[in-house]
Amino acid sequence: LENGLARTPQMGWNDWNSFYCNVNETLIRQSADAMVSSGMAAAGYTYVNIDDCWSTMSRNSSGNLVPDPQKFPSGMKALADYVHSKGLKLGIYSSAGTTTCAGYPASLGHEQQDANLWASWGIDYLKYDNCGDHQGRNGQQRYTAMRDALAATGRPIVYSLCNWGQESVWTWGMPVGNSWRNTGDIGSNWNSIMGILDQQVGLDAYSGPGGWNDPDMLEVGVGSVTGTEGRAHFSLWSLLNAPLIAGNDIRTMSSDTRTILTNTEVIAVNQDWGGRQGHKISDNGNLEVWRKPMSNGSVAVVLLNRGTSTSTVSTTASALGLGSAASYSVRDLWAHTTSSSSATISASVPGHGAAMYIVTGGGIVTPTPTPTPTGTGGI
Ligand code: DGJ
Repeated sequence: LENGLARTPQMGWNDWNSFYCNVNETLIRQSADAMVSSGMAAAGYTYVNIDDCWSTMSRNSSGNLVPDPQKFPSGMKALADYVHSKGLKLGIYSSAGTTTCAGYPASLGHEQQDANLWASWGIDYLKYDNCGDHQGRNGQQRYTAMRDALAATGRPIVYSLCNWGQESVWTWGMPVGNSWRNTGDIGSNWNSIMGILDQQVGLDAYSGPGGWNDPDMLEVGVGSVTGTEGRAHFSLWSLLNAPLIAGNDIRTMSSDTRTILTNTEVIAVNQDWGGRQGHKISDNGNLEVWRKPMSNGSVAVVLLNRGTSTSTVSTTASALGLGSAASYSVRDLWAHTTSSSSATISASVPGHGAAMYIVTGGGIVTPTPTPTPTGTGGI
């Protein structure tokens, strides 16, 4: 979407993956505090996003949505002011249907009124879900209506589509939103993360500055996701140019989780839009290689081991699209070390783990395919 926002994938936090409907202003304020004190803000995280269940069960006599006074006694304007005072931005949630997934009133048919209300509060980001009755309208119509309502407010508001890949949203998402969810909900376990990864194959040509494929929010530090799995998840989501929206309790996270989420070398791959979204280049059963050409002529690579025991995962400079050279510089984005390598790039990778490198040398000889233009907001 050409609204000037999300020229690189948006970064932030959202309460849903850890708190579900247990959202309130204390949680949001404390999470904003933690985003700064943890170093996440310095690493690029900006948006503090409220998900479902923030309102009362019905609109007021003026037809406006009402923040639940038990959960948000100070109101949303005061909360936005607080978040802004930290140098951060505040996100809200609604649905392109008659109700949200949890049954609260949503915005179909109320697009302009709701957008105006959010803008009056100082909201900076909307996650727009797909629950409730659609009143016979297709996704493209319902999501475009809110795009136009947000634009008419005159306030810059990142617009995150959440229709779970329905109606092949990646084929029409670019001129409509800043990102589009392309799968069902992620879960806080390895199998869910891998299942979503598999659904990213073939979608890389559709994303670009202003509009990103969204494989859902991060589960780093949540549920059964281990540190090794979390590093693989964060490596892959970064390579995919995914919005990096943390889903853990950032107030109480372990130092291992914080170190993963604030790895600025990995984040720099995510925020380098000059290349194409990362994509899989080989798949040998449990061992996969994913690459992303970087704007400076180097190539980011993730060597992924989906098995349960340590294995060597390998690729070559030519498979990565690099030209021949006597040796290549290999920057390890997790160990923060640089070494030189022959034309074979390989690593011993633990089960459910990944290595991530930036490989430089030889110049790019495989031209980056031109992404297919997908709409008037085009790439
Ligand atoms: C479905 C979405 O996909 C989730 O991310 C979350 O927003 C829930 N709805 C909230 O009800």
